[in-house]
Amino acid sequence: MPKLTIDDLELGGKKVLIRVDFNVPLDEEGKITDDRRIKSTLPTIEKVLSQGGKAILVSHLGRPKGKLDPKLSLRPVAQRLSELLGKEVGFLPDCVGEEVEKKVAELKPGGCLLLENLRFHPGERDNDRRFSRRLARLADLYINDAFGTAHRAHSSTYGVTRYFSQRAAGYLMEKELSYLGKALTNPGRPFVAVLGGAKISGKIDVIANLLRKVNSLLIGGGMAFTFLKAQGLEIGKSLLEEDKLNLAHNLLQNAKDRGIRIYLPSDCLMVKEIDGDEVKTVSVDAIPSDWMAVDIGPKTIEHFSAHLREAKTVVWNGPMGIFEKERFAQGTMRITEVLAQITQEGATTIVGGGDTAAAVQQAGYGEKMSHISTGGGASLEFLEGKELPGVKALTDK
Ligand code: 3PG
Repeated sequence: MPKLTIDDLELGGKKVLIRVDFNVPLDEEGKITDDRRIKSTLPTIEKVLSQGGKAILVSHLGRPKGKLDPKLSLRPVAQRLSELLGKEVGFLPDCVGEEVEKKVAELKPGGCLLLENLRFHPGERDNDRRFSRRLARLADLYINDAFGTAHRAHSSTYGVTRYFSQRAAGYLMEKELSYLGKALTNPGRPFVAVLGGAKISGKIDVIANLLRKVNSLLIGGGMAFTFLKAQGLEIGKSLLEEDKLNLAHNLLQNAKDRGIRIYLPSDCLMVKEIDGDEVKTVSVDAIPSDWMAVDIGPKTIEHFSAHLREAKTVVWNGPMGIFEKERFAQGTMRITEVLAQITQEGATTIVGGGDTAAAVQQAGYGEKMSHISTGGGASLEFLEGKELPGVKALTDK
């Protein structure tokens, strides 16, 4: 780890500003439906508390556009965190200002506070100097454990860091960077990437960068059909990004020139209407004009699985079909099972992206992968080979 980490800090008696990513999904009643992002930061928080540090936690939740929105309050998160830590977590209804400074000053060693949603202030997203200074005034040390937000150059991930001489990665940040970093720089081979999801758009730079690193690339999900169309196949009403056809063609050519195999589905499940009764399996060169693909087919599952069984490192981002509907979830679930199996046999498997992580959790395989990233956009930008601002801002070792 080239950056300072929490283990390099003297935490005793210090006020520690910890940027976490508690941007968790809430249901209509404001209940947390997935608390993995909270659980994942427990080692960092517990370390600060056990060393007699004073933990001041800051996070965003949703995109409230610089205004107070009671539906996006972090209060329910404070309660959940209290339960998970088994100790009282104070909640403050703002994240800067005199009242907050007063409460922080009263904090005892081993005490923990969660401050209200940073994005209720426009200064957070604007990376505003004044807002950054107000945040920095709260603490002596800075820890960033918010890998999921590390691709944002906001006040709490970037601007604030200029006011701290020691800016360290928390354990979650360290773990994320270590798994994803090793895959990109020194993977066990064969190194196979699996990409899926609806669109190529957000993944162009990921594909381009991964083509320089992997031994092969498996593409499923809606995005596969733009590639198939670029190869001259008729894809019916399947997802198509018309304006990305040239690009898909160039990526296929680029892979060929490098001797990297891109594997696309050879068959798929298709329907006429998403909620209709009729579902058929068909070869991808025989999709009728009024049908659309919704999942990879059994031959593709077999073929992809055989490849994955050979792999020593796998990075997976994006589901293979419309997995939210059980009857189109086979492809995604079977890939999940194969990855669980090869992980047990010693391969390193890394799952990134909100949807893919959700699919793996939903299938009950959360503990069976080497690493499930807590970052959606952040893990994609990392895989693109970009330096994340929140990581760049940490102190070099
Ligand atoms: C995420 O969920 O990807 C992070 O919390 C970042 O959220 P944002 O896309 O609203 O910046």
